[in-house]
Amino acid sequence: MTTTVFTDETRARAREIVARYPADRSRSALLPLLHLVQSEEGYVSPAGVAFCAEVLGLNKAQVGAVASFYTMYKRRPTGDWLVSVCTNTMCNVLGGQEVYDTLAEHLGVGHDETTADGKVTLEHAECLAACDYGPVMTVNYDFFDGVDPQTAVGVVDELRAGGRPTSSRGARLCTLKEMAIQLAGFADEREGAVADGVPGEPSLRGLRLAQEHGISVPGFDPNTPIRSGDKPAPATPAKAAPTGSTAPDVPAPDRKSPQLRTAETRQPDAKTAVPDAPGTKVPVDGPAPGPRDAQTAEAAGVAANKPAADAKPAGDDAEAQERNLREAESTGRSGDQGSANDKGAQK
Ligand code: FES
Repeated sequence: MTTTVFTDETRARAREIVARYPADRSRSALLPLLHLVQSEEGYVSPAGVAFCAEVLGLNKAQVGAVASFYTMYKRRPTGDWLVSVCTNTMCNVLGGQEVYDTLAEHLGVGHDETTADGKVTLEHAECLAACDYGPVMTVNYDFFDGVDPQTAVGVVDELRAGGRPTSSRGARLCTLKEMAIQLAGFADEREGAVADGVPGEPSLRGLRLAQEHGISVPGFDPNTPIRSGDKPAPATPAKAAPTGSTAPDVPAPDRKSPQLRTAETRQPDAKTAVPDAPGTKVPVDGPAPGPRDAQTAEAAGVAANKPAADAKPAGDDAEAQERNLREAESTGRSGDQGSANDKGAQK
């Protein structure tokens, strides 16, 4: 069946998207295709799902599974302006929930709901990757940094009045459909549609601290080209650390990890393992733990986790399983393979 909802221009763009991928990898075009159909209808409708399925030779269940997995694909008609308020940890402690609650009350909608005039859809978001500017909200994925309830209300009021408030960073605001066409991989040629902002001070704070404390990644060259065709190095089995030395994943003292350097900056006299060096074993006083220590620790762990008072292994009723298995086997021999015991034995 041919889906007729979409314009010839959309169909031509769909062909262009599919042509970006190798012929035997056309299903990789699904994500931009979903943005494409969203750019025409404002959401991924059942017709949009059918269209993508038709173009890529997939079934609708396969397309629907992808469309319903990613939050950027909307499954219901969505307003021109998708207002996302971050209520995750960092923004929340800075007032993000208050911003969201105020907007919900002001607009008279809840999460993933659209105002009666069809202009604004509100949603709460889980970390918009701008924690350094919290609390943040986005309008069609452009940021408004450090918002408070008043400024947030001002933004949505201006949007509903037909204005396009200026975001904190990035280009002029696009409607959701205009944004979707960009996400499908088509440049927006209109003036001011694309802008390049400079990184702000909050984003540069980590860099400044590193410079201040002389922290750098050994041998790191930001201009190192990434060669195509490079294969990841084969995994090498970890070797046991020689007794009395550092653990195997610890670089030599003159090639310390940035985390270790940072920790030393904070605690120049620290002699023990540094807690904020995740995944990094650091030199400690005395010999490193050997295999025998590991066995001892394991034995201690086993001893500390005694079986339940009824002496049964935790979680499994081995005796009952064994009994069911025997019954299933005897029942199977007599030709009745669909008994409850048979099912029980499979558990
Ligand atoms: S917690 Fe709000 S942007 Fe990360």
